[in-house]
Amino acid sequence: MKKYIVLTIALVGGLFLLDKILGQDPERRNLDFAPDMAQSVAYEAESPNPHFANGQTQQNPVAGTIARGFRPLNFGSTIEESLRAGEELVNPVEQTAALLERSKKIYKIYCQPCHGAGGQGDGPVTRRGYPPPPSLLLDGARNMKDGQIFHIITYGFKNMPPYNAQIEREDRWLSVAYIRKLQETQP
Ligand code: HEC
Repeated sequence: MKKYIVLTIALVGGLFLLDKILGQDPERRNLDFAPDMAQSVAYEAESPNPHFANGQTQQNPVAGTIARGFRPLNFGSTIEESLRAGEELVNPVEQTAALLERSKKIYKIYCQPCHGAGGQGDGPVTRRGYPPPPSLLLDGARNMKDGQIFHIITYGFKNMPPYNAQIEREDRWLSVAYIRKLQETQP
């Protein structure tokens, strides 16, 4: 028994001593091992930079230019703007059999959860308390221009969230085309 007490005291004492010897000073940085990984030789994107007149590393795009692959869409997110989109935008998608297949897929993945397989606003999400959307087969959606529906998908509409981050521009047009297909087949 006595042996264990001595051993415990020795162990605790040893640890205490070790802590004192190795003890870290919270005021001091630890030893930097291979610091090149953390502190790069190149300027970090957000760091100040003495080589540019404005003192920043990250430079703004040249005024009046557009990044490659980025096509701006100059609309606000209001209902008035969705009506303007209806007047100004033309659906670039020509519905072919292959595209129809894809448009159906887009609709099934992104729209069906709320709007339902047939567009009647009875998707599974609405059975869990989400406000059911109006049927896409009614006059409301039928009378909307393609550009307005595209705007709704891009910017959202009242209770519907925007889907521009999830769905590519072409695919958004395709889902508009699929709504038209649903409306055609179910007059
Ligand atoms: C999270 C659920 C949800 C998803 C997903 C969704 N919507 Fe909606 N959508 C709604 C709701 C809710 C409304 C009704 C908005 C309101 O009036 O408050 C709506 C309205 C609409 C309208 C206007 C209908 C009308 O008559 O006013 C269109 C068109 C539409 N959605 C198209 C789509 C398309 C196309 C997709 C897929 C790309 C989609 N929505 C995905 C919930 C959703």
